Amino acid sequence: MVTAPPLDPLNALHWLRDVGADEAVLEAPVNRYAEPAARPALAEAPVRDERPAPSRDVAREAPRRAEPERPAYEQGTAREIDAGLRPVAGLDRSADLQSAKALAGAANTLDELRAALERFEGCPLKKSAKNLVFADGNPQADLMFVGEAPGRDEDDMGLPFVGVSGQLLDKVLDGIGRDRNSVYIANVLPWRPPDNREPALAEASVCLPFLMRHIALVRPRIVVALGATAAKNLFDTTEGITRLRGKWLELNADGYECPAMATFHPAALLRMPLNKRYVWRDMLAVQERLEQLAGGTHLA
Ligand code: URA
Repeated sequence: MVTAPPLDPLNALHWLRDVGADEAVLEAPVNRYAEPAARPALAEAPVRDERPAPSRDVAREAPRRAEPERPAYEQGTAREIDAGLRPVAGLDRSADLQSAKALAGAANTLDELRAALERFEGCPLKKSAKNLVFADGNPQADLMFVGEAPGRDEDDMGLPFVGVSGQLLDKVLDGIGRDRNSVYIANVLPWRPPDNREPALAEASVCLPFLMRHIALVRPRIVVALGATAAKNLFDTTEGITRLRGKWLELNADGYECPAMATFHPAALLRMPLNKRYVWRDMLAVQERLEQLAGGTHLA
């Protein structure tokens, strides 16, 4: 039986996104709990609210504990930051994007790209992260995966996908006869967002020139976007992962073009194991396409 995680609002949002409810249907949200429990039989009948007056909710009225002072880049959710409700301290969207493009564009090897990221000061996540998480795997591989951002384990070790979702990714790779010696793995964000929150658009977009250059330097035959954040940023789309996954798309990464596909993120599979069948289907399609494209210098 599939059970939802406890109903903390952020968990609830993540759960909705993972089960595919990642697109708005109406212009404005509808609070179904606010509707009267019993509707009148006739629409025209005058409605008298028979519900008891709401009791005083002591818990809700209790004074809120003062939040400890935290740096601005640690405050708020990605949505709040994206909506301009929270500042992204130290991020000047246009100047930092220019600097990211210049630094990434000047890198001609993966070592130079890593050094460029180490010099780049335009993404505030760098200040709260322990390590730069650049990549893992074989840069000669024909298949590259792009995830969202490092979590705690990845931040500690400086390597992508080494925690629980990494273990599931390894199983997915095993299913198509691969391991980390025959794939290459990077993330949209090379630094961990505080509390593993979803990256804000501004944070992802200022790091995107590095990711696109990364792909162009590795030149994989196929790129697989793991999850909604990778898909949205790589393909510059607002389409939800449920609709996007499993389709062949053309990726243009800093002038390097290759086929690409989005699939569910391993962390989403941990919450929604039934979706493993779709990832399995997607991986078989990727494997088949790689076989068709085989014959070059990349490792299979
Ligand atoms: N999730 C990601 O998207 N990337 C990682 O490196 C780890 C977890």
